[in-house]
Amino acid sequence: MARQEKLRAPRGTFDVLPDEGRRRERLLATTAEVLGAAGYEPFDTPVFEDTEVFARGVGETTDIVQKEMFSFEDAGGRSVTLRPEATAAICRAYVEHGMHKLPQPVKLRSWGPFFRYEAPQSGRYRQFTQIDAEALGSDDATLDAELILLLSELLERLGVRAVRLRLSSLGTAATRREYSDELRQYLRDRADELSEDVRARIDRNPLRAFDSDHQATVRVMEEAPRLLDRLAPEDAEHLEAVRALLDDAGQAYELDPKLVRGLDYYTRTVFEFTSDALGAQSGVGGGGRYDALVEQLGGPPTPAVGWAAGVERMLLAAGDEAAAPGSAVFVAVPKPEGAREAFRVARALRAAGLQAQMEQSGRSVKGQLKHADRLGAGAVVIVGEDELEVKDMHSGHQRPAADVEEAVRLAGEALAPAVEARP
Ligand code: HAM
Repeated sequence: MARQEKLRAPRGTFDVLPDEGRRRERLLATTAEVLGAAGYEPFDTPVFEDTEVFARGVGETTDIVQKEMFSFEDAGGRSVTLRPEATAAICRAYVEHGMHKLPQPVKLRSWGPFFRYEAPQSGRYRQFTQIDAEALGSDDATLDAELILLLSELLERLGVRAVRLRLSSLGTAATRREYSDELRQYLRDRADELSEDVRARIDRNPLRAFDSDHQATVRVMEEAPRLLDRLAPEDAEHLEAVRALLDDAGQAYELDPKLVRGLDYYTRTVFEFTSDALGAQSGVGGGGRYDALVEQLGGPPTPAVGWAAGVERMLLAAGDEAAAPGSAVFVAVPKPEGAREAFRVARALRAAGLQAQMEQSGRSVKGQLKHADRLGAGAVVIVGEDELEVKDMHSGHQRPAADVEEAVRLAGEALAPAVEARP
């Protein structure tokens, strides 16, 4: 028989093993708590959309639309795309469901898998997970500040290390158009110093030149005209209002006129959180205002603001946390005949709200106790032929129990210190 190639997860993707799965679950629970407290409601859109949603929403000239989308024709001949980001699809849903008729702002939170065909490296995958928060239907500066502070709080609660916040404003589309013309002229005048890539994009997307790491281009961009200096008075005021709220909250940030984001829909506020604990892919989360996007996708004029944060990058930047203290019960079965009773005991423990597992692999008694230890169990219920015993794994004490109810009670008591110690 011919040797078969080993099957592997596709390039740029990964499996989530249980240790990582637990961390992700905790991260999502914390997110729901932080965003839920500010009125952000759970919301979801499909994992794929008509390609047009992203082509029109994210922008035809962006890297995402030009080279990173997983697009294909379905069996019905429609062009569909695995979502590379959430915002355009959320706006599509806002329009589709007439959500402008709801009390505004509509505050939504979401999470799930996203897909971009990028060169994989640490912190950069072809399938990754984003948490997303959006507030649609108001241009109030408190929303910009609220969202920034919520992401900041979330990163802190998750233990993400060495976090920095950069903030800027891109003004309105009209300001940006005028500014882009000015920048184009400046870039053309110094075209021979620019990287090929940047030169090729002068007409389509001159702002991306600020993103370049080509040394000579970086030097040229140091002296380039700045959009921040060209903002219309009401946009400058909006930025000042956001800054004042961040200052009041004691939120540190750097005003960075060179901050450009990889999506075209932004207007006014843009921001990005990075972590110095990460390598080249240091962006843990970012976002901004997109006051024209809903209208662009066929809805009424609807100012909006939001962000997305990468789950994998946040966990990478959070490092390892200490294991939670033992709060589980293990049900040991010295003889196979005890399995039925042990099964009953495990179910009774769970019904009492405890976390319980039983022996299911035919180990010796010694092996079972070792396994209980490995699981971090705080108590072991030993189901003998005619008796039940409960071992407190912290003190090592072993006590007999008259029946299942008493075994459950004693196991609960043995866990009490660990359960109380949990935050
Ligand atoms: P984004 O900056 O493209 O924004 O992505 C947000 C976050 O997703 C990044 O900061 C990063 O943590 C994570 N991320 C992006 N690409 C990858 C990748 N290939 N592998 C791993 N993580 C990745 C948006 O997507 C906007 N929709 C944010 C937004 C919401 N703006 C307004 N509302």
